[in-house]
Amino acid sequence: MQKLELTWVGKGQEPAVEPRILLHQQTHGNPNADNMLIHGDNLLALKSLEQDFEGKIKCIYIDPPYNTGSAFEHYDDNLEHSTWLALMFPRLQLLRRLLADDGSIWISIDDDEGHYLKILCDEIFGRRNFVNTVIWEKKYAPTNDSKWLSDSHDFILVYTKNKQNWRPNLLPRTEEMNARYKNPDNDPRGVWTSDNLSVKTYSKSNDFPIITPSGRVVNPPTGGCWRVSKEKLEEMIKDNRIWFGEKGDIVPRIKRFLTEVKDGITAMTVWKYVDVGHNQDARREVVKFNNESVFATPKPERLIQRILHLATNEGDLVLDSFLGSGTTAAVAHKMNRRYIGIELGEHCYTHCLPRLQAVVDGEQGGISKAVNWNGGGGFKFYELAPTLIVTDKYGNPVISDKYNPQMLVAAIAKLNGYAYAPNADVFWQQGSSQTGSYIYVTTEYLTAAQLDEISHDLPNYERLLICAPAFDIGLGKRYENINVRKIPQSVLDKCEYGADNYNLNIINPPQLDEEEWEDYEDA
Ligand SMILES: C[S@@+](CC[C@H](N)C(=O)[O-])C[C@H]1O[C@@H](n2cnc3c(N)ncnc32)[C@H](O)[C@@H]1O
Repeated sequence: MQKLELTWVGKGQEPAVEPRILLHQQTHGNPNADNMLIHGDNLLALKSLEQDFEGKIKCIYIDPPYNTGSAFEHYDDNLEHSTWLALMFPRLQLLRRLLADDGSIWISIDDDEGHYLKILCDEIFGRRNFVNTVIWEKKYAPTNDSKWLSDSHDFILVYTKNKQNWRPNLLPRTEEMNARYKNPDNDPRGVWTSDNLSVKTYSKSNDFPIITPSGRVVNPPTGGCWRVSKEKLEEMIKDNRIWFGEKGDIVPRIKRFLTEVKDGITAMTVWKYVDVGHNQDARREVVKFNNESVFATPKPERLIQRILHLATNEGDLVLDSFLGSGTTAAVAHKMNRRYIGIELGEHCYTHCLPRLQAVVDGEQGGISKAVNWNGGGGFKFYELAPTLIVTDKYGNPVISDKYNPQMLVAAIAKLNGYAYAPNADVFWQQGSSQTGSYIYVTTEYLTAAQLDEISHDLPNYERLLICAPAFDIGLGKRYENINVRKIPQSVLDKCEYGADNYNLNIINPPQLDEEEWEDYEDA
């Protein structure tokens, strides 16, 4: 059977991305907080997170460049169509792997690529895991000089890892909704509102006349019937759950008590700016962190708050791999979610870092007042390590001299699927795999005598992988439970080395001049 799929130049030739180690740079606030801000290309960063976070992320929100053809000060949004698809495809594949089985992914997009993105996501997440397209009203006024229609909304595509395992939280009930509940008959169960007793789906057993307390005979509307049977209605009348009006003569209605309704409301798919903010709100929020270089395309905190409210609970892990000015991380922090944010641009330093520092210190913008945010918590800032393998002047692949011995062990362990965790008492236990095998990486020549000593301390039922630049002949086969491999040769075919980023042409963006910036602001 022919497969229905979107295709583009280069599809199927995605790179084998190097799983880099992350280099911890600084911690802000509580040193035990495990929130992460990562500077670097998100394909490399997501690959490096895969080992530790596969299946662990509860909610992913991304707001990738929309490919609108606009050139922004902080990045270039104008990619050729198939380049854009090639940028998104491997990233979405990795994001899916990171998603928990009861997790969801929310992707902001507009008309330029939205429908292509839907097809791409159907392929990656499965059509059956598509939840909805949310329409977010991003503008409050028309752009009167638009040549065609004035574009006032974005889409948010919502997918789950497994739709049957995922249910959104309810939105809180508003004061306005609760104000509709009254208690005209002083019912001891408290305030209530009334609901129609008739339904359109006909059932003969529910079609009968009712005599009101005033003696009036009432029948269901033509073609319809009552919601309940005669017996059930009598039971409800006895329990004072049917309302006939103050004079006992109106068409009967069911009483719905506030104490008995669901503790919240199901979210709808159209999100108005009055409820979740608009573009200008978002712009105002980020200006507070950097008013010299205004970030052009932030999202309002209330929009992200709505997503995180629906998709997560306190303590859940949230990921945004196109972090921009840091909105998702800031909102997750204030809502007591754990988070990982990845941003490639310089604004990681000029916007995300200062914004998150301010949040830790109790910043009062955005959703702070609504969630009673007073500061606290912390986050760690990371850079991606450089590539492990470089080419020497003779054209041979060698370990990069930017790697110190500790980084080398961590990198080789990661490439071989081992978690780096050196045992202070046992020098050859530098990490372990999920199957319980150990890894030992050395930059020294390994002799048979050294191997014999290690083997002496290694029980027969345990396994060890040793990586060394050179070793005595025959060591590879000397012990059944010890595998000895050469570095760098043994890791050369694990992935592609040397790529500093896979961001295609998003770096070195053109700058907006003052006039263009004003046009953009007005748009
Ligand atoms: C539309 S903005 C996100 C705005 C964000 N939602 C906010 O509220 O500020 C898209 C961001 O993705 C970043 N980006 C683009 N390609 C990237 C890549 N390959 N790796 C990491 N970040 C990337 C851009 O630098 C830009 O900051």
